[in-house]
Amino acid sequence: MHRSATVFLAITALVAAAACAAPDGSPETTGTTPEESEPTAVQAGFTPFDPATRPYELSGSLVPASVSMVSAWDIPDYPLTDPLLDGSPEGEQVRWGYRLFMSTPAETPRLTPSGMSCGNCHLNGGQRDLALPLVGSAGMFPEYNRRAGRDFTLEERIVGCFMRSQNATGGAATGGPGQDGAAREAAETDRAANDGEIGALPEGRVAPASDTEEIVALAAYIRWVSRNHEYGENPSWRKRNRILEAALIPIEQLDAGRGETLFAEHCSSCHGEDGQGVQIGDKKAGPLWGPRSWNDGAGAARVYTLAGMIRYMMPYLNPGVLTDEEAQQIAAFITSKPRPAYPYKDQDYLTEPRPIDAVYYQR
Ligand code: HEC
Ligand code: HEC
Repeated sequence: MHRSATVFLAITALVAAAACAAPDGSPETTGTTPEESEPTAVQAGFTPFDPATRPYELSGSLVPASVSMVSAWDIPDYPLTDPLLDGSPEGEQVRWGYRLFMSTPAETPRLTPSGMSCGNCHLNGGQRDLALPLVGSAGMFPEYNRRAGRDFTLEERIVGCFMRSQNATGGAATGGPGQDGAAREAAETDRAANDGEIGALPEGRVAPASDTEEIVALAAYIRWVSRNHEYGENPSWRKRNRILEAALIPIEQLDAGRGETLFAEHCSSCHGEDGQGVQIGDKKAGPLWGPRSWNDGAGAARVYTLAGMIRYMMPYLNPGVLTDEEAQQIAAFITSKPRPAYPYKDQDYLTEPRPIDAVYYQR
């Protein structure tokens, strides 16, 4: 059998196994054969299905947070076939930005030692509700960045994503929460040897800057998906992957052991018991910890931030089944694991107080 067809069945099996029934009208409940609905894998992830066959309403311009089998392949604003982008250098840049977004390690290995693509965390190309959508975000920059204590342009924000979420610093030393002595020492030595600059990058790798071509292209893609939104007007769907303040559980009361049990139940089928991620057709659930994951200076390395992602966008095929509490327990488990050390953590939060859930920082 064709590989994608096998995979389709694997996903269908996962849907069947899921506690929550698939939404009405989705292909697996109407008996569509794998051959008919098999997605075609292309370099930049996949070809989205024909919008005319979309079995649900979009939520504004976003894919709704509730899931059907096809929504994983839905990119409402799809630059690769948009004729308005044909034949201009600007159009090509937006398209490259999209490819970078969806297949970051393949498109720019020099900036991405991790196994993470932007699209791993910002689902559906950053066009899905409650999955860190970026539609309309461009008009909100420059914006104050609490970690840095100053305003960031969109490009600087993206540089930060590379440095941390994609581990561009290449910090291979893995530290647990609070970072063990050896990992911290290695990072310190590394920085001292480079006058505090990003240095000692393994051969073939560069540190991203605001004018690095990949950063410029990604910004072009994010501006393009934001083009129909008023500059400076905060989109209502922005920054909603948050556990409400009243539901937050104090960090020290969270139990990584309970999180591990929940992880085995809800997550390991796709992310693997070892958390390293399983290939599911043209999708790859990312490594949740270990050397190929995001580093310990990333937003997703913060317990509540990660819990807010998990609560609303996972499990992949039935998000919303977890309670606020369960999402936090699982996040506590994932952030109890080692991951690459961001070597410049002591330059973060010099102006603003360090958030309580930034557990990889020295206490
Ligand atoms: C490990 C998960 C992860 C990865 C990978 C990731 N991000 Fe993010 N990103 C986040 C989180 C978490 C936020 C904060 C969202 C919030 O505040 O609600 C964020 C925020 C952003 C923002 C700011 C959005 C806004 O409206 O303020 C931009 C822009 C962004 N990411 C772009 C990117 C790009 C480009 C890449 C790939 C180079 C990337 N991200 C990779 C998790 C990730
Ligand atoms: C049915 C398969 C499936 C299940 C079950 C699942 N995930 Fe995922 N997960 C994925 C896929 C696929 C992606 C990447 C999304 C993409 O590229 O479009 C992902 C992405 C993520 C991400 C973003 C960063 C990364 O590593 O890719 C996190 C965090 C995450 N999942 C956590 C969880 C947690 C926690 C659970 C359990 C509550 C869970 N997932 C259950 C398939 C799954």
